[in-house]
Amino acid sequence: MKITRRNFFLKTAQSTLVLVIPSLFGSFLESCSNPTGPGSAAGLQSIQGTTSGSNVIVNVDSSSPISKTGTAAMVNFSNGSVLVDHPSTNVFNALSSICTHQGCQINSYDSGSSQFVCPCHGSRFDVNGQVTQGPAGAPLQKYQTSISGTQLIIKVG
Ligand code: FES
Repeated sequence: MKITRRNFFLKTAQSTLVLVIPSLFGSFLESCSNPTGPGSAAGLQSIQGTTSGSNVIVNVDSSSPISKTGTAAMVNFSNGSVLVDHPSTNVFNALSSICTHQGCQINSYDSGSSQFVCPCHGSRFDVNGQVTQGPAGAPLQKYQTSISGTQLIIKVG
């Protein structure tokens, strides 16, 4: 083929596209997929809480899935659900279960790293709701908790 200015331009443009398109596609896939998967995270057990005014009340006696330290669960109530973990005696954390990335419901917990894991794109949050792995860029809302006997009280309002 005779190398004309036009042919040279077309060949250069084709080569550039061959190099650029796969890298753009790779970036797209990286941002929209879950490259690490949920890892060792396991699905959270759901427990039912009762609503009283702006509080959600959860039984945490010895029959509760979150009675032991190091455990976590999803607490469902009439207006939604919250993530709860129990890191040490009489200490409970309660977090929004709605991922700050694109709004998926977080439903698993990695007990090895004490992190909640979003099933959609793999974001991870520590027990204070801080992002430990994106793509989420904002922390989960954290709710105030208190203990009264064997009841955990979560202030959601
Ligand atoms: S919605 Fe994308 S990581 Fe949770």
